[in-house]
Amino acid sequence: MPVVSRSVAAVTAYDRRMELSGKHVVVTGAARGIGAALAQRFHAEGARVVVSDVNVEGVAAVAAGLEATRPGSALAVAADVGTEQGNHDLIDAAETAFGPIDLFFANAGVGVGRSVDDTSERDWQLAFDINVHAHRWAAKYLVPGWVARGEGYFCSTASAAGLLSQIGSAPYSLTKHAAVALAEWLSITYGDAGLRVSCLCPQGVNTAMLSAGDTAGAGISSAVVRSAGRVLEPAEVAEVAVQAIRDETFLILPHAEVLTFAQRKTADYDRWLAGMRKLQARSQGGA
Ligand SMILES: NC(=O)c1ccc[n+]([C@@H]2O[C@H](COP(=O)([O-])OP(=O)(O)OC[C@H]3O[C@@H](n4cnc5c(N)ncnc54)[C@H](O)[C@@H]3O)[C@@H](O)[C@H]2O)c1
Repeated sequence: MPVVSRSVAAVTAYDRRMELSGKHVVVTGAARGIGAALAQRFHAEGARVVVSDVNVEGVAAVAAGLEATRPGSALAVAADVGTEQGNHDLIDAAETAFGPIDLFFANAGVGVGRSVDDTSERDWQLAFDINVHAHRWAAKYLVPGWVARGEGYFCSTASAAGLLSQIGSAPYSLTKHAAVALAEWLSITYGDAGLRVSCLCPQGVNTAMLSAGDTAGAGISSAVVRSAGRVLEPAEVAEVAVQAIRDETFLILPHAEVLTFAQRKTADYDRWLAGMRKLQARSQGGA
């Protein structure tokens, strides 16, 4: 009997695996960094990939690289996902080219802002528009079709900061928490209607966003990020993301220790906050 149970469980798990070959995947923020690596990794799995970014030349170069290996399998769409129209037009262009979208990866993000008293209203708006509202606007145009079809996959890039916090940047902490909250809400609300949702929450990744934290006065100090754990390459993050999507795991954690940190946080909030204050003091050259 136990043998039969195990094999049934194995077949069930196998059936649930997301097959990426031939799927239509859209990745935002794909001109460089994590987004470019995700697009390249999905393409290597055999997906047809729409690479999108506000950086027109960057996204054209990434798409051209993919097209060179498999003609007709990649398309660059320039779009500012920090606007509702940008999301609408991106989804429209992608579906016109490759048909219904199977997987949408809302990855574009910005690391702007510092504290509550020295971040401009413009930067607060920018952070919310790109890190949060972009995900909401994409979901607004994707979810009805996915529910009608009984399937669809929404992935978003939040950050470990969305589960923990971001020392040095209130806008990043708030918006990444909101991104996790939206992904959770979509999974709870539409999971039984066939929508699958995953949320990518890395710590440090070796991209332009991380090196921007080396500049004087940056809110998110790269030294603080580096002190939290190993800095991964974008390709390593993409590899973990593909495995997690195959297994339909909600939280994508390229840095496994983030789960331990999150568990410590929820187990004893006051102790966790005290530890974070010590980390912040150290980052400012204090005790
Ligand atoms: N690098 C890290 O350490 C790290 C850690 C955790 C989470 N993240 C998150 O990963 C995601 C990707 O970041 P990255 O590290 O690759 O940074 P990156 O700066 O290299 O790439 C971000 C991309 O997003 C694009 N973008 C910015 N605003 C846009 C807009 N309005 N519309 C369309 N595209 C836009 C940029 O042009 C850029 O190509 C972000 O959401 C970021 O917050 C990064």
